[in-house]
Amino acid sequence: MADARGSIHGEWSSGLVFILAATGSAVGLGNLWRFPYLVGENGGAAFVIIYLLCILLVGLPIMIAEITIGRQGRRSPINSLLAVSRDEGRSRYWSLLGWLGVAAGFLILSFYSVVGGWALFYVLQSLLGSFQGITADAAGELFETFVGSPVDVLIWHTLFMVILFGIIAAGVRKGLQRAVTLLMPLLFVILLLLVGYGMAASGAFQEAVAFMFQPDFSAVEPGTVLTAMGQAFFTLSLGMGAIMVYGAYLPRNESIPRSAGWIVGMDTGTALLAGLAIFPIVFAAGMEPGEGGPGLVFVTLPIVFGEISFGFALGILFFVLLSVAAVTSGMSLLEPATAYLTEQGGSRIRAAAIIAGLIWLLGIACGLSLNVWGDFHLLPGMNVFDALEFVSNDIMLPLGGLLIAIFVGWQMRVHSVARELGLSDESTGFQLWLFVTRFVAPAAVILVFLNALGLFGG
Ligand code: TRP
Repeated sequence: MADARGSIHGEWSSGLVFILAATGSAVGLGNLWRFPYLVGENGGAAFVIIYLLCILLVGLPIMIAEITIGRQGRRSPINSLLAVSRDEGRSRYWSLLGWLGVAAGFLILSFYSVVGGWALFYVLQSLLGSFQGITADAAGELFETFVGSPVDVLIWHTLFMVILFGIIAAGVRKGLQRAVTLLMPLLFVILLLLVGYGMAASGAFQEAVAFMFQPDFSAVEPGTVLTAMGQAFFTLSLGMGAIMVYGAYLPRNESIPRSAGWIVGMDTGTALLAGLAIFPIVFAAGMEPGEGGPGLVFVTLPIVFGEISFGFALGILFFVLLSVAAVTSGMSLLEPATAYLTEQGGSRIRAAAIIAGLIWLLGIACGLSLNVWGDFHLLPGMNVFDALEFVSNDIMLPLGGLLIAIFVGWQMRVHSVARELGLSDESTGFQLWLFVTRFVAPAAVILVFLNALGLFGG
């Protein structure tokens, strides 16, 4: 039965390591690259408030649900769903949800690795002092020349995948656990240093705080809510089994709701701190956060680092932070499929090599679509990179999240779920969570889904 089942991959040595690993998955390019430019583009504080509501009403309950499936199943998402649906007397076709997640992980990691490669390249550039005194034009050109060069993009994408392969192949304890216990403290120290600089050195900290926390709801458009919700999914790593597989390695006696609360709190805190680190620097240089769009981090910030005092050191710190965050997130995208292949027989090293190799190949197509294959459209108006991002983020993640909420909320027996959560099924906390998971979260996700299909404007 469920209680006797153990993980063949090993376990985290404590609940704290699970929290670090899942926070490492959640905190990534989504927080440091995507969140700040979305806030900039969507008018600041009003967007922040809507985003926080989405995190609380959709993200937190679905995160609890995803961890619950993983810990009861104790396997890769595909085999966990097989085991749990058997325990609960439900159709074995629920394992297709695991396959959906594996597929989403392939697509996401193939473009994530390309951007992770950019972050690594920018670490090198910051070390070489390339930003010192750089003009706005030159910063734009540095980025475009790099992204426009197939060889450069492929080299750095390859390096990123090799790092991930090395960590995943070494296993749960010796690979993933060791990486997060080393890298996550580093990440938080760097982030706090950058926020500290933003507070101390620029007169613009107040301006940044006002921008992020004094809402002007007239700036809100219908699409804003839906953008905020999509970001909530992506930033919490929900809907593809990454959090599920990490939950499979969580020791039995650790509280799922409490762990989820920490993960969600730290991810949200990091996104807000990233804003408090980046916006003062941008304002102090007399620039606007909405201008750069996706280029905010790779074009606007280097210009700023080239101007301000301590810019050389701050630039290095920032791009190391970005790279570390990308690596600990990328790991969680590679783990579900690797765990599955390992369970089907053969060594973990072989499994990791096969999966990482396939994703590396797909990533090459993403990288080349930014330059030599730029005119090839996989979907109308979208190159390979944009198409993979669209299909995975806007379709597969919401669909996965919706099915996870339905499976745990409606298909698992209430007392099994309550037992896994360590709560009485009559307690107020459990009842509240169940209500949100059954009704509120699915309804909200359906709205995102309609938006992604373009049926809803925005
Ligand atoms: N959450 C990560 C970020 O914000 C990205 C990520 C890692 C992810 N694993 C995931 C997104 C699983 C969706 C699903 O950068």
